[in-house]
Amino acid sequence: MKLFVIGKPIKHSLSPLIHNCWIKKYNIDVKYEKKEIDLLHLEKIISEIRHEKIKGVNVTLPYKKSITRFIDEMSQTAKDSEAVNTVFFKENKIYGDNTDGKGFIESIEKEMKFDFEKKKIFIIGAGGAAYGILSQLNKKKVGPVFVANRTKEKLNNLVNHFKSKKSDIFQSNWSALKPPDDTDIIINTTSFGMKKGELIEINYKGLTNSTIFADIIYKPKETEFLKFARLQGFKTINGLDMLIRQAAISFNLWFGISLTEQDIKNAKDICDKAC
Ligand code: ATR
Repeated sequence: MKLFVIGKPIKHSLSPLIHNCWIKKYNIDVKYEKKEIDLLHLEKIISEIRHEKIKGVNVTLPYKKSITRFIDEMSQTAKDSEAVNTVFFKENKIYGDNTDGKGFIESIEKEMKFDFEKKKIFIIGAGGAAYGILSQLNKKKVGPVFVANRTKEKLNNLVNHFKSKKSDIFQSNWSALKPPDDTDIIINTTSFGMKKGELIEINYKGLTNSTIFADIIYKPKETEFLKFARLQGFKTINGLDMLIRQAAISFNLWFGISLTEQDIKNAKDICDKAC
């Protein structure tokens, strides 16, 4: 049997490295590969999962949203984030889940020893990743959440989407990125920072040294956003641990295996070498 990560482009995906490391360790008779596909082929992939020719897929950009129309049963998280990154077949149904947000939360909790309850949060971006993270933050009884985004309309949509579940979510100004005083964690959920010279400039006034700067980007290992924050004395974390932990949650959905912290570390070492 095979598993795939599907998307376009897919050349640089680290998912096969991560999953094959665990597949080997747990001696499972499957192979995980990457497959670049066009939008038109999503339906065929789902049909192959339904007929158990493929065990499941991870879905990456740009299909996390478009795949949802082929799913029979979406998890609450997938519904909340309007996106699916993990697909599997169970009891005659195609299931879709989204492990990105959970992976992010786990990463911050475990790597930074951070407890989200009642914390003040500043989010940059209003794309798919922000939806995934916000849907999980909601479950953590966090304090007020402030969101800034370049495009105002997308920011409006996101804040309206979550307002009914979380009344203390607020819009923040994009032209002068200023997290409120004593913000506990600042999260970049945008792709801005992947290219050289792309810097998200933050007004650090009012922040304390315990503020965490988190970026979902893992390539480069340190974005300009993280570098500047680190040089100011703030704690920082990139997106590699999140990537591994969202993969671990997918792995559990397919095989029912709860991976250990050592498994997480092994996969991270492999990715670190490959990056
Ligand atoms: P999705 O994740 O839904 O596919 P995306 O188009 O990849 O969305 O964008 C993700 C986020 O990155 C968005 O918040 C986007 O801002 P806009 O809503 O203004 O498009 C943000 N983003 C991407 N490129 C950016 C840039 N050059 N400057 C600022 N924000 C950027």
